[in-house]
Amino acid sequence: MPVSPEQFRKVLGHFATGVTVVTTRLASGEPWGFTVNAFTSLSLAPPLVLVCVDHGTESFQAMRRAEYFAVNFLTEDQEDLSRVFAAKLQDRFRHVPHSDSSHGSPLLEGCLGFVECRKISSHAHGDHTILIGEVLEAKARGGHPLLFYRGSYAHMEPSLEPTKR
Ligand SMILES: Cc1cc2nc3c(=O)[nH]c(=O)nc-3n(C[C@H](O)[C@H](O)[C@H](O)COP(=O)(O)O)c2cc1C
Repeated sequence: MPVSPEQFRKVLGHFATGVTVVTTRLASGEPWGFTVNAFTSLSLAPPLVLVCVDHGTESFQAMRRAEYFAVNFLTEDQEDLSRVFAAKLQDRFRHVPHSDSSHGSPLLEGCLGFVECRKISSHAHGDHTILIGEVLEAKARGGHPLLFYRGSYAHMEPSLEPTKR
């Protein structure tokens, strides 16, 4: 194997990302959500995004069946939410204020912004599946982003933040 999983994880950890919670509504009506940093924009016209989901998770089963999903961008004050939505908890939405998007995906209160998507395709590669979503709604309210870097949460230096929004 040219690059071991340990080396791959270590090197990729040097690529800083934001942190999101991807949410959907299960067929049972229950809300579902999980922490994701493998999120990126894919196309401007049409507006497309992608998220990568680990095959070994319950979230993968939820997302396989989902028709709509939302991606909530976390602020630096929402590290606790990132932990809750990455943990094996029965009800991750307990004590988490949220509303519903027009297609029923939970929108977490206080986020930097969100996109709501219709899932248009999925592609399995290795141990993850890439889900591609067409963006139906997108809103940002701004704030200070939560970052993930070298396996830890991080905050942006105030001097690096844009002065104009
Ligand atoms: C900062 C961070 C980023 C994560 N990013 C992803 C991701 O991009 N894709 C993914 O499938 N899981 C990701 N996870 C793991 C899931 O949030 C979560 O731990 C897992 O889905 C929980 O297992 P379950 O879905 O079986 O309940 C991430 C976890 C953390 C803490």
